[in-house]
Amino acid sequence: PRPIGVAVLGMGNVGAEVVRILTENADDLRSRVGAPVELRGVSVRDLSRPRSGVPSALLTDDPAALVARDDVDIVVELIGGIEPPRTLIRTALQSGKSVVTANKALMAVHSGELSDAAATSNVDLYFEAAVAGAIPVIRPLTQSLAGDRVTRVAGIVNGTTNFILSEMDETGADYADVLAEAGRLGYAEADPTADVEGHDAAAKAAILASIAFHSRVTASDVYCEGISSITSDDLAAAKKFDCTVKLLAICERIEADGVEKISARVYPALIPFEHPLATVNGAFNAVVVEAENAGRLMFYGQGAGGAPTASAVLGDLVMAARNRVYSGRGPLESTYASLPIAPIDDV
Ligand code: NDP
Ligand code: HSE
Repeated sequence: PRPIGVAVLGMGNVGAEVVRILTENADDLRSRVGAPVELRGVSVRDLSRPRSGVPSALLTDDPAALVARDDVDIVVELIGGIEPPRTLIRTALQSGKSVVTANKALMAVHSGELSDAAATSNVDLYFEAAVAGAIPVIRPLTQSLAGDRVTRVAGIVNGTTNFILSEMDETGADYADVLAEAGRLGYAEADPTADVEGHDAAAKAAILASIAFHSRVTASDVYCEGISSITSDDLAAAKKFDCTVKLLAICERIEADGVEKISARVYPALIPFEHPLATVNGAFNAVVVEAENAGRLMFYGQGAGGAPTASAVLGDLVMAARNRVYSGRGPLESTYASLPIAPIDDV
């Protein structure tokens, strides 16, 4: 099969890691996809900044021209924010390219129009990395649980605020210092107000509610309170009641006035020490899903940071590439046969 051409838009915390994995794991990706996966170009805003890990000939500050290239099959959007990503993604989809994005701010508002564009062109629009970093939660909700009836999705979906709250709680660190550290570690958004005021978690709640309840829920439908007014004294007071404080996102089906409705809300909550969410610390996230037949499922892992998020992006990229090579079917099992089996004495 002919190679699959990939354009990466944005080479920040996540984009740089995606480019690294694409380059380092080229052989594995080729065998999983069934064709070579070739990086056609990487767009950045500031071309004068030194970049490592990518040949300078692949860099451009013109993402629209990169998206328009005939040899680009899949566009990976890692710029963030509404524009230019919305126009770039829509153009890519309308011209028959598949798209992978980690952009929750965009998907929480414009997923309807973009999903429609993808459906019209019969291409993929994948966004696993947009919610809870490395943790697979979009695919379980849209595929594994597609035959069940999800009643509730709740948990910790913002790594920056969880890092701030747990550092303040465990070490008594200063709020502003920990927020700056979250930025240095690549957890925080370009504008960290989105994290601390709860808007990032609200965007994720809108995406989760939309896919869990097969509805269109946007960020403005989500009740939202952040953590910017939480103090060390609040955390100390919570401890006296054997509780900690976590920023929760809760999406559930409720009945109000005899009518079934969706409730989506984000706010800091007291969590008893014995609750599983109380032990989720640092930039880790955890999402609890309740479904009528599956019961309760819990997903846990790194919710922010370049490499963990890039892992989710690469998963989507492999799926989108395989779909283009095999029209949705492919020899995934055959890739497991390439390693020898260890006898028990080797362990
Ligand atoms: P960064 O701010 O680190 O990187 C953004 C990249 O996009 C940079 O390369 C920047 O160029 C480029 N860029 C920014 N604005 C423009 C513009 N107007 N036109 C063209 N290029 C532009 O962001 P992250 O890598 O942290 O995040 C990327 C996306 O992934 C966001 O949607 C974010 O919400 C999402 N995400 C991030 C996670 C994380 O842990 N960081 C986790 C999950 C999702 P330059 O390098 O020249 O500045
Ligand atoms: N800023 C986000 C967070 C990145 O801290 O969770 C991951 O979506």
